[in-house]
Amino acid sequence: MTTTANDNLNDWLRDAHAMEQQAEKMLTAQAERLEHYPALRARIVQHIEETRGQQRLLDECLTRRGISNSIVKDLGGKLMAFGQAVGGMTTSDEVVKGAMAGYVFENLEIASYTSLIAAAQAVGDTATQAACEQIIVQEKAMAAWLLEHLPEVTQAFLARAEQPGVTAKV
Ligand SMILES: [Fe+2]
Repeated sequence: MTTTANDNLNDWLRDAHAMEQQAEKMLTAQAERLEHYPALRARIVQHIEETRGQQRLLDECLTRRGISNSIVKDLGGKLMAFGQAVGGMTTSDEVVKGAMAGYVFENLEIASYTSLIAAAQAVGDTATQAACEQIIVQEKAMAAWLLEHLPEVTQAFLARAEQPGVTAKV
């Protein structure tokens, strides 16, 4: 029982690490493309920094638990759809779809850390629990910001889209 729970926690920490690597790629692609939505871009840039810090915290958890980084498995394939949906997006309403996809991804992260916190509690790994509790605060803040600002992003996009010769999508 204890062994199995610890093995699961290790797997989920590896998954979370891969998820944050995917998040960094996705957010970086978004930030590089955005030109006309400075508030959204600034919040994304802030979250890129937070995401790198989260990767370091997860690295520390894995190291403390004796898990080598070299065997961190690649979850990239599973999350590729998100990355493509956001990073490679070239739809005419890219900024709106990107903000929506970002919100969805943050909620996936929130669910992952909620589960990780419960797993860390179950095996008595208080350091991992504390790290995940620190991370989830940042994910909830990012999700809340995106939802709160989705109306103004949408309205700014609609206003730009109606002006001839003005780029609206990014
Ligand atoms: Fe996040």
